Amino acid sequence: MCGIVGAMAQRQVQNILLEGLKRLEYRGYDSAGMAILDDQATLNRTRAMGKVAALEDKLLESALSGHAGIAHTRWATHGRPSEHNAHPHQSGDKLAVVHNGIIENFEAIKESLEGEGYVFTSETDTEVIAHLLAREFDKTGDLLEAVQNIVSGLDGAYALGVIHADQPDTLIGARKGSPLVVGVGIEEAFLASDPLALLQVTDRFIYLQEGDVVRLRHQGNIQVFDHAGEQVSREITKFEHGDGAASKGNYRHFMLKEIHEQASVIAATLEGRLSDHHVFPRCFGADADDMLSHVKNIQIVACGTSYHAGLVARYWIEKLAGIPTQVEVASEYRYREVVVPEGTLFVTLSQSGETADTLAALRYAASKGGYLASLAICNVPGSSLVRESDLCLMTHAGPEIGVASTKAFTSQLISMMLLTLALRNVKQGDDDVQADIVKALRALPGLFEKGLAMDGAIEKLSAAFAEKHHALFLGRGPMFPIALEGALKLKEISYIHAEAYPAGELKHGPLALVDADMPVIAVAPNDELLEKLKSNLQEVRARGGELFVFADEHVSFKEDDHVHVMRLPAVDEHVAPLLYTLPLQLLSYHVAVLKGTDVDQPRNLAKSVTVE
Ligand code: G6P
Repeated sequence: MCGIVGAMAQRQVQNILLEGLKRLEYRGYDSAGMAILDDQATLNRTRAMGKVAALEDKLLESALSGHAGIAHTRWATHGRPSEHNAHPHQSGDKLAVVHNGIIENFEAIKESLEGEGYVFTSETDTEVIAHLLAREFDKTGDLLEAVQNIVSGLDGAYALGVIHADQPDTLIGARKGSPLVVGVGIEEAFLASDPLALLQVTDRFIYLQEGDVVRLRHQGNIQVFDHAGEQVSREITKFEHGDGAASKGNYRHFMLKEIHEQASVIAATLEGRLSDHHVFPRCFGADADDMLSHVKNIQIVACGTSYHAGLVARYWIEKLAGIPTQVEVASEYRYREVVVPEGTLFVTLSQSGETADTLAALRYAASKGGYLASLAICNVPGSSLVRESDLCLMTHAGPEIGVASTKAFTSQLISMMLLTLALRNVKQGDDDVQADIVKALRALPGLFEKGLAMDGAIEKLSAAFAEKHHALFLGRGPMFPIALEGALKLKEISYIHAEAYPAGELKHGPLALVDADMPVIAVAPNDELLEKLKSNLQEVRARGGELFVFADEHVSFKEDDHVHVMRLPAVDEHVAPLLYTLPLQLLSYHVAVLKGTDVDQPRNLAKSVTVE
C-alpha cells in the first residue's frame, strides 16, 4: 500500500509526479505529498490530507518548481491520516524520503535517535529512515552510500525514494519487500511503485530486484546496485498493455470498465493455451508436463478475492483431476506449522504478485522444503511472486485499477480451470470431459457479452439494497465461493454488511437472522445441486425473507412479490461460477453508486497490500 513516484528530468517534474500519484491512488488515498529540489537546490515540500486532488489544489495555488523530486500517496499504517504524517518526510531542511512498506524495528531506532537529539514530527515509522539517512549523509557526503549503509539496519519492508539538497543531481531508490520500478526515459529517469504511474512518460521499465538500490542522475543516467553493493545490469522491459488501461474511457468508474472488459480478458487468458481437446501443459513452463504428472496434492494460498478463486478451484481440481486440494488464506498459512504431504504443488494466486502475506507464504513454503514445485498464477509480469516461483501462469487481465477486483478474479478462475484440465490430462490423456469444457471455455466470452444485457435490470434491482444494512449470499458447491465473492464485493464498495453461507448451512444458524430487512441473494445455475438449493430457498421464504435469485434461463423458478428471479444465459455447469460472478459484480457496483460511495477507492482499503 502507499504509492511512490520519483523523477529526475530535463523538464519540470511537478506535473509528472502529480499525474503519477493520480495513477497510483488505488494503492492508498488518505493523504499525499511531494518534495522537489528547485534550481537553487532548495528543498520545497507540499503535503495535504485526503486524496491527491487536495494536494493538486495546493500546488495550483503555489507550484513546486524543479527537475528532481519525489511524491507519495498514503494508506496509513503507523499514525492516523493527517498532514504531518503524510510523506515525504524530512530530516532537517535538506533530505526528504518517501516510503512504502513497514519498518518493524522503528521503535527501537526511534528511541536511539531521540537519545541523540533527533526530533520527530510524525507518528510514522518512515521518519526514522529520514533521520538515519541524514545522519549517514553527514558522515559520507554521498546519498547512494548513505542509503546502502542504512538499509541493512531496517527490518521489514520498504520501497524508498530519497533526495538531498547537497546532491541535487541524484535521486536514490531502494526496494526490499515492496515493489519499485525504474522508468527509463530519453535523457530522464523515473521511479514508481507500479509502471502504470509512469506510462505518460515512458513504456520502458527496469523491475528492481529484492535488495536493489538504484541511483538516477541527470541525462537519464541509471545505475543499479545489488544487495551486496555490486553494480549490476538489469534488463529493460517494454510495457505491453498500452496506456488505455490507465483511463476510464467512457465509463463512469474503473470498476464498471473492468467488469465490461471481462469477455476480452477471458479470451486473452485462453489465447494460445488450448487445443480443441485439451490444455497445453507447456503454458505452465517448459518442463511443466513432467512436473504435473508427479502432483499428488495441491496447496493453494492467497488473500481476498484471489483466495475465493482458490476455493472455486478446489471443487474443480478434486472433481475433475482427483487430486486432494487445500486452500488457505496466506496470513494464516504463513504462521502455522504445516504438514506437507508428498508430491504437493504449492500454488499462489495473486493479481498484483506483491501481496505481502502471499509472498511471505511462498517464502515460508520454500524454506520448509518438501514441495514438488511452486506455481504462481499472477497478473503482473516481473512481480516478486512470479520471480520467486518455479513456474508461473500469467492471467492477462491487463492492469486493474478499481480496488475491488473483478476482471482479475475472472482471469484467475480461467487460469485455475486451465490447471485443472492440465492435471486431468496428464493423468488420463484426452477425453470428452476435457473437450466439452474446452468448448464451454471458448463460449464464455460470448456469454459474458450476453450477460451484460442484464445490467439495466440489475441497476433497478439495486434500489432494494441501498437502504439495507445487511445482506446474505447463498450458493452450493463451487457456487459457495462465488457467494463469498459477491458478499465481499458488496461489503467493499457499498459498506453494507454482507455474509455468504453454503445454502445447506442456513438452518444451522443464519436462518435466525432472516426477516424482511435481510435480502437474501442466491446463485442458482442449472447444476446437480439445484433442487437442494431450491429447498434451502423455501426455508428463507417460509421466514418472510426477500429472495433475489440469479438462475439459468431454462430452469423454472416460481416468482412472486418477494421472490425476484433474474435469468442468465444457459452455461455449462463446470464454468458456471465464472458467469454467475458477473451479476453479483454488477449488483454491488450499482448499490454502491446509489449509495454514493467512492466506488473505485472505497474507504480504508487499498488495492495492493504490500504490508503485513
Ligand atoms: C487487497 C485488494 C483485493 C485483493 C487482495 C489480494 O485486499 O483490495 O481486491 O483481492 O488484496 O490481492 P492480490 O494482488 O494478491 O490478488
